[in-house]
Amino acid sequence: MSDRIHTLSGYFHEYQKSVTEPEQFWARIADSFHWKKRWDKVLEWDFEGPDVKWFVNGKVNITENILERHLFIMGDRPAIIWEPNDPNEEGRTLTYRQLYHEVCKFSNALKAKGIGKGDKVIIYMPMVPEAAIAMLACARIGAVHSVVFAGFSSSALADRINDCEAKAVLTSDGNFRGTKKIAVKDLVDEALEKTKTIETVIVYQRTKQEVKMVEGRDIWWHDAIDGQPDTNEAEVMDSEDMLFILYTSGSTGKPKGVVHTTGGYMVYSKYTFENVFQYSPGDVYWCTADIGWITGHSYIVYGPLLAGATSIMFEGVPTYPDAGRFWAIVDKYQVNQFYTAPTAIRALEAHGTKPIEPYKLDSLKVLGSVGEPINEEAWHWYHTHVGKNRCPIVDTWWQTETGGIMVSPIAGITPNKPAYATMPLPGVQLAIVDPEGKELKGKAVEGNLCIKFPWPGMLRTTYGDHDRCKQTYFSAYPGMYFTGDGVKRDHDGYYRILGRVDDVINVSGHRMGTAEIENAINEHPKVIESAVVGYPHEVKGQGIYAYVICDLKNRTEENLIGEIKDTITKSIGPIAKPDKIQIVPGLPKTRSGKIMRRILRKVAEGSFDNMGDTSTLLDPAVVEEIIEGRVE
Ligand code: PRX
Repeated sequence: MSDRIHTLSGYFHEYQKSVTEPEQFWARIADSFHWKKRWDKVLEWDFEGPDVKWFVNGKVNITENILERHLFIMGDRPAIIWEPNDPNEEGRTLTYRQLYHEVCKFSNALKAKGIGKGDKVIIYMPMVPEAAIAMLACARIGAVHSVVFAGFSSSALADRINDCEAKAVLTSDGNFRGTKKIAVKDLVDEALEKTKTIETVIVYQRTKQEVKMVEGRDIWWHDAIDGQPDTNEAEVMDSEDMLFILYTSGSTGKPKGVVHTTGGYMVYSKYTFENVFQYSPGDVYWCTADIGWITGHSYIVYGPLLAGATSIMFEGVPTYPDAGRFWAIVDKYQVNQFYTAPTAIRALEAHGTKPIEPYKLDSLKVLGSVGEPINEEAWHWYHTHVGKNRCPIVDTWWQTETGGIMVSPIAGITPNKPAYATMPLPGVQLAIVDPEGKELKGKAVEGNLCIKFPWPGMLRTTYGDHDRCKQTYFSAYPGMYFTGDGVKRDHDGYYRILGRVDDVINVSGHRMGTAEIENAINEHPKVIESAVVGYPHEVKGQGIYAYVICDLKNRTEENLIGEIKDTITKSIGPIAKPDKIQIVPGLPKTRSGKIMRRILRKVAEGSFDNMGDTSTLLDPAVVEEIIEGRVE
């Protein structure tokens, strides 16, 4: 516990040390882990490459730091508490000892299927403990997991399988989500028609719906582990061996595979978890994310389990069977730290306070927020009605690429300011830059958010395309990592994240590229061209507005809009479906053919004055037509 920050002056002291002596600082933190061989050098780096190595030549297995490490002193402590979708179904608790044996058994099962170090394994599963077991088993044998959110379509799944040339898929027969039952295995079967590399599919039986099992390729989870020993020797991994790939959207092209490696991620996820949430042994912690996102990786599975915490995993949705479900779970398990997304808070806020009233919520000590800017109103609602004005809120800013939390209050220690992520964590050296790349020093400045020194949890590359990593993150401002976010530092030195400054939109905390949605829309044969922008949305943070030029022959607008939505659902998944689709006669383009998105954003927002200079447009009249046909 020596790495824990306890006071505000302690935070400043640690922060200072992390900047003046970063290597000593991180070596001290890393020393509290079990290494099979200590590192030779703490850090080697160059942001030009980029080429970043932490704990160079260190040998380690992350699962020994989760399982063996906690086995003897606290083997009987709950590691994972699972709450099913249906509140009437019995939940499950896995102690650290049970988790150890389950992970070992499944590790042996994977090995028996010929899966080993360096192989890529796709996990496309519902929120059941087996999903975490699958991740840990991969990590134990040195296979690289790539979790794909189970709400993504078969085509999105196939793209990811093909990109990383995965050898196996771990999945389930079906998935319960609220009142819905999703045929997950059918989606896998569909995806595998478009892939060539998958040799094994392991199917966890969850919904007991009928599925087709392909002889020689598909095997039930329970058959795969049957008879497997419940111990397993963990593979020796290099600090810089790949731990996982997680696909995320950017402003161009298809989603890219963000690569995280073993040693640095391990150190960073645990350190940030313990400090930000001020987790104390015995506390019950709950993060409502899905393991398909980075939040689920770092703050349901790795961070909490490395810290020996009790982590709740919830299969369902916040509004099933009613809008009090989150609070029922908080009371049921006496949750101490609760971590969710602003979109969930706003969605529940829309139901009023009635659904909260039956619950005490007196176990809560810390509330967290992640994934998108939290507006002041939602912050206050969360603070007053959930936290009863006594729980600090940690508004945590970070990204898939950062691996762990970067800017956040330390719970109960950093004074809160609504809608501010407050200050950088130790080890995080931020820079605010103007469009020319000049660092804006001092207080009360606004610009683009960059990071000028490596931190252990950072991405190392984008899978299969290092140049893309360089272009996306390290080229806009040479010598710095560019986050894609705009930020303001106020007169107190506090940071407020203003949202993306690139063509990425954040819908209900889900990150999507406008280009990716446009590509999906363009798959419809009647679509000629499309342009997608984000616009402010009361509950989702941002909504998706699509402008589409199409051939309306033999179709009504309404039919076509429905078909376009179906095309997107098939290509990406329902989360990418636009809230508004407007069929337009043309798009505002410059003479060089570039779409002026600024104008489209204004129209989507409903603010028509101050359109800026439209004289460079090829056909200025199209703007009027677009305004006229705007979807309310
Ligand atoms: O725009 C920022 C927003 O989410 C983006 C990262 O998305 P993703 O990689 O999917 O990871 C989400 C979970 C870590 C960021 O570039 N974002 C994330 N957290 C916050 C945020 N915006 C404002 N405040 C936050 N606390």
